[in-house]
Amino acid sequence: MSKKIYVTNPFLPPLEEFLPSLEKIWESRVLTNGGPFHQELEAKLCDYLGIEHISLFTNGTIALVTALQALRISGEVITTPYSFVATSHSLIWNSIKPVFVDIEPETFNLDPKLIESAITPATTAIMPVHCYGVPCDVKAIKKIADNYNLKIIYDAAHAFGVKHEGESLLNYGDLSVLSFHATKVFNTFEGGAIVCPDAATKKRIDNLKNFGFIDETTVVAPGINGKMSEINAALGLLQLKYADTAIQKRSDIATLYRQALSKVNGVIVPSPSKASRYNHSYYPILIDQGFGMSRDELYDLLKKYDIFARRYFYPLISEHPMYRSLSSAKRANLPLAHKISNQILCLPIYPDLSQEDQTRIISIITNRA
Ligand SMILES: Cc1ncc(COP(=O)(O)O)c(C=O)c1O
Repeated sequence: MSKKIYVTNPFLPPLEEFLPSLEKIWESRVLTNGGPFHQELEAKLCDYLGIEHISLFTNGTIALVTALQALRISGEVITTPYSFVATSHSLIWNSIKPVFVDIEPETFNLDPKLIESAITPATTAIMPVHCYGVPCDVKAIKKIADNYNLKIIYDAAHAFGVKHEGESLLNYGDLSVLSFHATKVFNTFEGGAIVCPDAATKKRIDNLKNFGFIDETTVVAPGINGKMSEINAALGLLQLKYADTAIQKRSDIATLYRQALSKVNGVIVPSPSKASRYNHSYYPILIDQGFGMSRDELYDLLKKYDIFARRYFYPLISEHPMYRSLSSAKRANLPLAHKISNQILCLPIYPDLSQEDQTRIISIITNRA
């Protein structure tokens, strides 16, 4: 039996480097509520990412829900069906109606050309996703938002460390939301964050993630408990030291996949990203008819060898029962998203993936056996 290879394997720093942080926490008994590790991680992330303000959260989903609250979004929000369910679940948790719009063929992100026709008098915001960390067409989306006075909240769960035209991708839009889940490029076991441009918005978000308290006795909004704990923040500080190395290793793996798989009939590899710095958070390939085997047959074949590639994102969000009845969820409205969703396969990519294991994955795909 060969060893199991998953689509990702969480990066962790050496355990002995984490122990002194744990000792500090045990000594201080400051476990949460914006303690010293939390504050230090916020400051270091602002430096590393090239952003002005960040508010750390217990996970990306609660951060998305809170981001919508912070901007008082209501009514309808235009979003993509080609994402993880948390994107539109965050709308439902705010009693907002998701309106799905199809994606672009190159980036798999929300197609700006189709947004305008989905706007109604009830539309208040656009929630695009930088899918696989590939930047959305941020300029075109901003133009539409400005014309119609809409807010933009980017689900940037995949976009840690990505730069666009030399600037952090997280600086586009009104707010950007990160996930630091175990499967992400930068993880704090569980975790997330909202990136925002000004101190007043950060203060509002900080209050909202602490039940709406603004001081010991005053509650100004029905906030939630979204605070990141000191253990997660302390781990994040260590992870940050390794972030560049981890992204470089991902880049090397992506290069090898590209070299080997771009020659295989019926396999479409991603074009090199136009981002000025990309994070290689996923390695998505498309399987078309020329491959001689369907995407699902390849997925099953890899499984037989204990290689667990993932069909991100299949099924589309719009296909789940809680979304299916929306008129924007109709298949005819989302032809490209359906096509991509039926052809996509994300291959294993993570800093510790050995060349030997990667060569094995490549050879199974190349030989179709
Ligand atoms: C696009 C996207 N949005 C949101 C989330 C939710 O983040 P979290 O798992 O930190 O709640 C994830 C992944 O987990 C994601 O991939």
